[in-house]
Amino acid sequence: MAYFVMNSSPFELAQEAAAVIASATGVANHDIALTLGSGWGKAGELLGETIATLDASDVPGFSSSGVPGHSGTIRSISMPNGKAALVIGARTHYYEDKGVRAVVHSVRTAAATGAKIMILTNGAGGIKESWSPGQPVLISDHINLTANSPLEGATFIDLTDLYSKRLRTLAKTVDPSLDEGVYVQFRGPHYETPAEVQMAKAIGGHIVGMSTALEAIAAREAGMEVLGLSLITNLAAGVSPHPLSHQEVIDSGKAAEPVISKLLADIASAL
Ligand code: HPA
Repeated sequence: MAYFVMNSSPFELAQEAAAVIASATGVANHDIALTLGSGWGKAGELLGETIATLDASDVPGFSSSGVPGHSGTIRSISMPNGKAALVIGARTHYYEDKGVRAVVHSVRTAAATGAKIMILTNGAGGIKESWSPGQPVLISDHINLTANSPLEGATFIDLTDLYSKRLRTLAKTVDPSLDEGVYVQFRGPHYETPAEVQMAKAIGGHIVGMSTALEAIAAREAGMEVLGLSLITNLAAGVSPHPLSHQEVIDSGKAAEPVISKLLADIASAL
């Protein structure tokens, strides 16, 4: 069933979504939420015992993903450490033109379910030549090139330490080899030109992608602590000697999936 709720604020809609999740899962409060991007999908299974799986389109404000390779479910998982995790496999991308409210609805819903930590994952292009496809990296900060914000009106939110140093340090205790970098969100859905990649590098970027920054801002507005992880699915345009393709992104996500999903489950359990 699809829900179209008119005239309600994005926060009311998130409350409605959280109420549906609570009644469908029987879990009144979630502690931690994870958005699984390309390549990270198997982490849900490794996190713990699945209590319930919902079709995202049955939850107010969500619509099924239109992107091949992205799933459209919301799962409640009981972790061995006793915490409840909400696993969101239904991302709305900014390039889908459904508006920024739709893009950050999942994050606001996660906050409304009680989650205090938001783990945002994605598949992205790498600018650092030392990186290889299949490598996970931590997001240390972002540059938002969408010229948009999920914040409405005069809502001034501090973004210093948006990608929590505390959580990055904990993630590195799980895998000390994790490198980190600045994520640059472009609108997409086209991949960047080599010149745009060089610009992203010149302004301090290391990772290029089409998600996450807007979601991270909304998560911070909602009071959550954010951990961001990118799977480098390809070297960015011009850094890579080959043209980019969505299939390459999906294939390297699939190849890396077992390793990075285990890593993500271990990190989430350590937080
Ligand atoms: N650029 C933007 N988004 C992406 C890329 C990229 O190179 N790879 C996967 N998502």
